[in-house]
Amino acid sequence: MALEEIKAVPPFITLEGGEGVGKSTQQRMLVRRARGLGLTVTGTREPGATQLGASVRDLLTTPGNDHPGQRSELLLYLADRAQHVERVIAPALEGGQVVICDRFADSSEVYQGRARGLGVEWVRGLNRWACGEVWPDLTILLDLEPGLGLRRVNKRQGELGLTTDRLENEGLEFHRQVRQGFLDQAAAEPERIKVVDASMPQDEVALAVWALAEPLLKEFKRLTA
Ligand code: TMP
Repeated sequence: MALEEIKAVPPFITLEGGEGVGKSTQQRMLVRRARGLGLTVTGTREPGATQLGASVRDLLTTPGNDHPGQRSELLLYLADRAQHVERVIAPALEGGQVVICDRFADSSEVYQGRARGLGVEWVRGLNRWACGEVWPDLTILLDLEPGLGLRRVNKRQGELGLTTDRLENEGLEFHRQVRQGFLDQAAAEPERIKVVDASMPQDEVALAVWALAEPLLKEFKRLTA
């Protein structure tokens, strides 16, 4: 069934931001809260949510793997996304499920388009092609000063006895570009992309995230009741 044929299309919500902003934790909390409204929710993430995506994630993020060039890197993220949309996101939406995704198309526009210099508009075009008619209704940008985010990542990885991954190891200037790139995306699309200050304590960030998502979720619930 095509998405436009569904009576009320479930919201597709994405969380975005640089390294160490707390996206994964906030995504889990948001999924739990949305389920608390009685909604069926698919919580997912990029890269790596499909079998193909897990291999792509390994290729892309494991330090020591043969480094993809900038164009290959972009195409690998897009391959992950196309598969993710086709196998997970579109079927969930068509089945009436809310989808809440940790990273999506904006990440490629910012990391590859902006910080790697491939061109935001160019990447947007490729994203549209890879995603078909699926596009987020709401994107919550968790904004944090990159030095702070990277310190959080190093601390967490140290505690878990893990090393940082290939993109986390990029210099501070790269991560400043990422932060500014996301803020520019939000300024260009204020209706879709909402910014939350991720330097607040975790519970306050969660409240701010919920305040943005709740109206959309409740409206969907009302339409399908
Ligand atoms: P994660 O740390 O949120 O799991 O994401 C893995 C890395 O992949 C992170 O450094 C951001 C990067 N990334 C891109 O560069 N482009 C993309 O399109 C996506 C989805 C992630």
